[in-house]
Amino acid sequence: MSIIIVTYGADTAFMTSNRRTWLKNTGLAIAGLGLAPLESFAFTDTRVADVAAQPFIRLRSNENPYGPSPMAREAMSKYINESNRYGWQLTSALIAAVAQAHGLAAENILLGAGSTEILDITAQLAARQTGNFIIADPSYDYWTDTATGLGLQKIKVPLRADKHTDLDAMLKAINQHTRLVYICNPNNPTGTISNRESLVAFLKKAGTQALVLVDEAYLDFSDQQSLSSLVSGHKNLVIAKTFSKIYGLAGARVGYAIAHPDTINDLSKMRSTPHGSISVVSAAAAIASLQDGGFVTSTRLQNEQAKTYTAQQLEGLGIRCIASATNFIYFSLSGYKPDFFARLAQANILGTRIYEEDGKWSRITIGTMDEMKQFVEAIR
Ligand SMILES: Cc1ncc(COP(=O)(O)O)c(C=O)c1O
Repeated sequence: MSIIIVTYGADTAFMTSNRRTWLKNTGLAIAGLGLAPLESFAFTDTRVADVAAQPFIRLRSNENPYGPSPMAREAMSKYINESNRYGWQLTSALIAAVAQAHGLAAENILLGAGSTEILDITAQLAARQTGNFIIADPSYDYWTDTATGLGLQKIKVPLRADKHTDLDAMLKAINQHTRLVYICNPNNPTGTISNRESLVAFLKKAGTQALVLVDEAYLDFSDQQSLSSLVSGHKNLVIAKTFSKIYGLAGARVGYAIAHPDTINDLSKMRSTPHGSISVVSAAAAIASLQDGGFVTSTRLQNEQAKTYTAQQLEGLGIRCIASATNFIYFSLSGYKPDFFARLAQANILGTRIYEEDGKWSRITIGTMDEMKQFVEAIR
């Protein structure tokens, strides 16, 4: 009998880094549900598991609780019938649409199965030479197993005390062996954002020495513009974008890289069929999503309302929150007496883990207002 292991998005725990802490916290959560650890993620059945029917409130992986957009759903239904054909025309149309959205050319774009594939490909490109890569700590580090697996050494640079990425310290950490610097902006898990001027100044210096990979997975939740207009002047800049967050297509797996055409060419060589990992259904969904501006606006608005509510409630409970430019909030449990994870488990809420043991920092995804009310009720 085969087992389907169900994980919840890219930011899950079955990835090696931080696994022990996660298991500790999740073990508590699972104990609260009265389930043995792996049982809660496994279906002892070969039929497709009905994940949607799971009773959890998922506030773990920074997914969009409102998506996919109505237009994307319609496009997906239509293109199911085209799934017997390769989707080259559709991926070309998606590349054109994405390029146009950024005022760039098709040569500036490389599609991937989620931005995870873009992060992995960039790590592969960087690892053609031995050396190191630099990442803030904590930051979005699941992809870094690819980089270390390929032989790059990981250099972690602590965040500033205000939980912002320390760009100055990251610059100082660069040495002659540095092949890649990763900037998650806004940063996951903290939700903090570095402004454009500071990033441009950083890029001017760091870009002369190494690839600079800027992950803009959550930028669309803020008012800040993408750095995409800078790629023509900076061959070492790679921007990772995703349809998983504001567009609500995490399960469809669509992301892309924006870079100088020469860099896109180099990145493309890491794949036997560049752009080839997007299904017709996913490509159709992404194209339709780009046309559904109303969905993006309403997601942003509802996210802001639920985020403001959640932050106010957490602060009211004495839980310190970091101002967030994203669809999640980073907060410290150091002054919170009850067992936070047991409370979540009792309410069937999937949160995440502790990131910094010393301050007991954790993160919660912003779901719908109703879900956030249930979250607040659970921990009150
Ligand atoms: C900062 C960041 N980058 C990249 C990803 C990967 O997302 P995807 O592969 O779905 O585009 C995530 C997922 O949570 C993320 O938080």
